[in-house]
Amino acid sequence: MNCIIPSLLFGLMMMLSSTLQAEPFSLANEGLVLEPAMQDLGKVKEGEHLFASLLVRNNSTRMAQIVDVQASCGCTKAVPAQRILAPGEFTTINIEVDTTGKTGKVKKNVVVTDQAGRQATAWMTLTVLEPDPHNSTMPRHTIFDGECARCHVAPAQGKVTGKAIYGAVCVMCHGNHAQGDYAPDLTKLDDADALFAMISEGVDPRHMPGFLKENGGPLTEKQIHALVKWLLSLD
Ligand code: HEC
Ligand code: HEC
Repeated sequence: MNCIIPSLLFGLMMMLSSTLQAEPFSLANEGLVLEPAMQDLGKVKEGEHLFASLLVRNNSTRMAQIVDVQASCGCTKAVPAQRILAPGEFTTINIEVDTTGKTGKVKKNVVVTDQAGRQATAWMTLTVLEPDPHNSTMPRHTIFDGECARCHVAPAQGKVTGKAIYGAVCVMCHGNHAQGDYAPDLTKLDDADALFAMISEGVDPRHMPGFLKENGGPLTEKQIHALVKWLLSLD
């Protein structure tokens, strides 16, 4: 009789400690958590849309509200199935990536923000394959068309210096200081005429379209001369 209470207590303690250990996340890490933090979405043909999903978990002891979901490029949509989450509750974020104009390895991120301004980020990689040119009925459109123009065309408007133009419409592909990122390093190029031609007419037009207005791009001849001058000044 007198050993029942201590053994009940002992049993209770065991239960408590095992539930604590079974908890895959710690409540000390308050805020939203995205799972997985990094995923490879595999291979997809250029121009196709890729669908994926993420879990967002309320890893706190209070109600949480998802106030914002941002994907790095406008070519990626990220929509949460629900925005209010009870403590420990999770929901799905559906992701759609438009691979138009992409090639090779691409990295995208999704950032969620809660009502307290706390953010969580998840990364996704994908490999975009060239479509078969003999078997492609896909209508071609470039970064200058439709909704893409908001970020890939409009920011160049009225920019005068090479540095400003670069920061508006080149940096997203060629990286900070033109040192290369998704697209090649531009700092080693030193032929002004060749640079002018490549920027005006494009390189492989699907990946690097011609930026001159006459070729459907956003830039005037004068702007491209300013860009070339700035690029030549880099080492
Ligand atoms: C809201 C602004 C925005 C819109 C709209 C937008 N982009 Fe982008 N794009 C970016 C940014 C910023 C990057 C740099 C990479 C990143 O942050 O994901 C980028 C990068 C790219 C790249 C380089 C490869 C890559 O994904 O990193 C391609 C190709 C591209 N965009 C194509 C498009 C196309 C095609 C559209 C229209 C269907 C489009 N973008 C619409 C902002 C935008
Ligand atoms: C949507 C992404 C994207 C944007 C924006 C972009 N480029 Fe490119 N660029 C590329 C890609 C990809 C290549 C490589 C093409 C290939 O070799 O098939 C390239 C190639 C080049 C090259 C030739 C590099 C070499 O070594 O042959 C130059 C020069 C260049 N870009 C300049 C620019 C400038 C200047 C801007 C801004 C006006 C710009 N690019 C904007 C994607 C982009």
